[in-house]
Amino acid sequence: TTQRLEDRFGRVATDLRVSLTDRCNLRCSYCMPAEGLEWLPNDALLSDDEIVRMVRIGVEQLGIREVRFTGGEPLVRRGIVDIVRRSHDLGVETSLTTNALGLSRMAEALAVAGLDRVNVSLDSIRRETFHEITRRDRLHDVIAGLAAARDAGLGPVKINAVLMRGVNDDQAPELLRWALGEGYHLRFIEQMPLDAQHGWSRDGMITADVIFASLEAEFLLTPAEEPRGSAPAELFQVDGGSGTVGVIASVTRPFCGDCDRVRLTADGQIRNCLFAREESDLRASLRAGASDEEIAERWVIAMRGKRAGHGIDDPTFLQPDRPMSAIGG
Ligand code: GTP
Ligand code: 5AD
Ligand code: SF4
Repeated sequence: TTQRLEDRFGRVATDLRVSLTDRCNLRCSYCMPAEGLEWLPNDALLSDDEIVRMVRIGVEQLGIREVRFTGGEPLVRRGIVDIVRRSHDLGVETSLTTNALGLSRMAEALAVAGLDRVNVSLDSIRRETFHEITRRDRLHDVIAGLAAARDAGLGPVKINAVLMRGVNDDQAPELLRWALGEGYHLRFIEQMPLDAQHGWSRDGMITADVIFASLEAEFLLTPAEEPRGSAPAELFQVDGGSGTVGVIASVTRPFCGDCDRVRLTADGQIRNCLFAREESDLRASLRAGASDEEIAERWVIAMRGKRAGHGIDDPTFLQPDRPMSAIGG
């Protein structure tokens, strides 16, 4: 019997995002403090088998069609290639959101395991700016990782860039020109209030409108033809056809009404929204010996509490307790 992960507003989740770890080998300032965070202890993390079981239940019983692995940084998890292979063998589309460190070493194995696509976070192609944002001097490894992903056929490879005032907000055209030249699909993302330091402010954020203005100083942008569906990115043709660029305006143009996502954290909690205030502890069910049907049932119930939207602009908005790195992008 197949049930659906449907919420009270009629939205159906078909896209599962699985965080494999809360750890990361970068320290992006919009995500983590320089000293890192207190990481989840190992026994709190789902095992490889537990993760694959959750994916299987999602696919076999709940209509999940796509699984994206995230972190923290998913490539720092030892079992990732095996988790990807076993997920792929369940007949589901698989993708990865990564900072690309280590990807030059792992892209080929991931492709062989059945990984379909990767999205890579990269906010600047200037060495100093990259170092300033991520607090690590590793731009070179990211560029090598991107090329390895492209060569392994993990594409179309997408790049996610977050712009920050006074840091890299003057670099949007330069990043786009570079991405077009390399054949990567670049998307600019509005920063959301998900940083561990709670330093986000509506006024400090670079909005989609500002991003457009900055790009339009150098490029002609026209809305792309393809229907957007539930994809968070609005797509634009650049200069009438030399490529496309995307803008993910999560804050100023929310796409919550079309959301088709559900998240599983590295410690086995189902989150029905990035900004959910409650989680459902399916790790407890897994470890208490629950049957597949019981787990599916709890998962279905977890979706009923999904709210209409993130509510960032509401006066009562509260940032989630967990930062992005612990929720999974
Ligand atoms: P594609 O399927 O390749 O388009 O992936 P994606 O854009 O869904 O995933 P990715 O991990 O690359 O995320 C890109 C940006 O979209 C990140 O900033 C995410 O935080 C944001 N994002 C992803 N899912 C959601 C969501 O459910 N809600 C909101 N508001 N933002 C999201
Ligand atoms: N707001 C928006 N995007 C973010 N990311 C990380 N933190 C934030 C934030 N606060 C991006 C990363 C990565 C993706 C999963 O989310 O750059 O590409
Ligand atoms: Fe790591 Fe991603 Fe957070 Fe950057 S945004 S510190 S790459 S988890």
